[in-house]
Amino acid sequence: MLRIFRLCLLVICGLPLCAWGDSTNEAIVRATAAIQAAVPRAQTDPIRPIFHVASPAQWMNDPNGPIFYKGYYHLFYQLNPFRDESGPRALRYWGHVRSRDLVKWEPLPIALWPSGELGEESIWSGCCTLNDLGQPMCFYTSIGVGKSAFDQAVQWAAVGDDLIQWHKSPANPVLTDALNDRKIYDWRDPFIFRDHQKTFLVTGGHMARDRGAAVNIYEAENPELTQWKHRGVMFEHPDADAPTVECPNFFKLGDQWVLFVSPYGKVQYFIGDFNAQTCRFTARTRGVLDWGSSFYAPNTMQVSDGRRLVWGWLNGFPGGLGWNGCLSLPRQLGLGRDGQLRQNPAPQLSKLRGKKVGWKDVQMSNGSEKLTLPKTNTLEIQAEIDMQSANRIELGISSGVKDAPVIAVTFDGAELQVVDAKAPLLLAKGERKLTLRIFIDRSVLEVFANETVCVTKIIAPLDANPTLTIRADGGPAVAKQMQSWPMHTIW
Ligand code: FRU
Repeated sequence: MLRIFRLCLLVICGLPLCAWGDSTNEAIVRATAAIQAAVPRAQTDPIRPIFHVASPAQWMNDPNGPIFYKGYYHLFYQLNPFRDESGPRALRYWGHVRSRDLVKWEPLPIALWPSGELGEESIWSGCCTLNDLGQPMCFYTSIGVGKSAFDQAVQWAAVGDDLIQWHKSPANPVLTDALNDRKIYDWRDPFIFRDHQKTFLVTGGHMARDRGAAVNIYEAENPELTQWKHRGVMFEHPDADAPTVECPNFFKLGDQWVLFVSPYGKVQYFIGDFNAQTCRFTARTRGVLDWGSSFYAPNTMQVSDGRRLVWGWLNGFPGGLGWNGCLSLPRQLGLGRDGQLRQNPAPQLSKLRGKKVGWKDVQMSNGSEKLTLPKTNTLEIQAEIDMQSANRIELGISSGVKDAPVIAVTFDGAELQVVDAKAPLLLAKGERKLTLRIFIDRSVLEVFANETVCVTKIIAPLDANPTLTIRADGGPAVAKQMQSWPMHTIW
């Protein structure tokens, strides 16, 4: 009786039913059914991207635990299976997809759900790794029933043999506040890395109630990775106004160490040195991963040949469509000679291309040149422009529909502008070349410029008759290569 009353109360309050005290089986059955019920609406929505990884339906946010294991790229993601919005108390599960080639993806059953019987309410972001016994494990931030993510979070682990089925570790919680010598607020998002035969875990958070963003570091004390010791603060955010750090990622790229942090705003990277004895990271340089305001909480994967890939959560879609959120394209990371980060779309993405249209040596002047794009709203455009004596160039992508807004990409030699987002983009001395890779996936626009600047925006989709206009101001320029392809679905 009491139970029926409680269920009714929760329905009336509009809260997801499995949040409080459900058994594990009830939680997953209900969550799966809720996703399935939303699929028909979500998947027929004309603005839903088709070549970006996304949940089959409902709300999703951060990519979690990307790992290459036994021939598959696995990605997990933050999922609210009950709603197409973030929802109360940010109730989260881990959704799951995998791919053999980064080209075609396969949705898999929900990987992790809250163990209501153990007092767990929500499963927040984290990572996957193999422990020293070779077992796949994931680590994540666990929010207890009625507990505050601000000052009561703990870190849990689950063990899996095939990455599809997971068992919560009997050692949970594997990291608690008791390890820390002082209070860490918003303590979350474990990420594991290795150096000098040691296994380390970093977490995000802040050291005072509303400031002191910092990355804390822990060292594993057993091969099962269930016992940890706090090794202190690895990195204090240099900006006094950075409120916190979410989703730290820390990895080696070439001979440098790179830290990604999500400080409630644009995602930042820091590059520098790590000392495995003192557990301190000293940053030499910094930058921004994406200058749009729709890319957040990225997570990286190391592939066996050493390549490092990153996916971010793309947000800012309209609500009420049965889905909300997707991941960025996989980006391959590198370091430039200038010591700054390089990002390129993973080369495998070219397998999604259909029939090419192309132009060579198009002279650009202040009269616009109009080119006809593939007849679709899922496409890639690649442009190699020699600015010559122009002081500004502009590409405008338009729908065939009269008065539809133009997607404008402009460059003045120092700043790239994509719609309303501005990014500094300096050319090397004497260099006049701009290389653009522009991906349009219905409502998602992802732009890569000279491998150094990325801008992601959520846009109004094009229609099936898009055109591209190009122009140069202040002198002539030449579009040496312009190519465009329709892009196929990843599903
Ligand atoms: C980042 C974040 C993480 C947290 C998760 C909850 O977007 O706030 O810090 O673990 O989302 O969904």
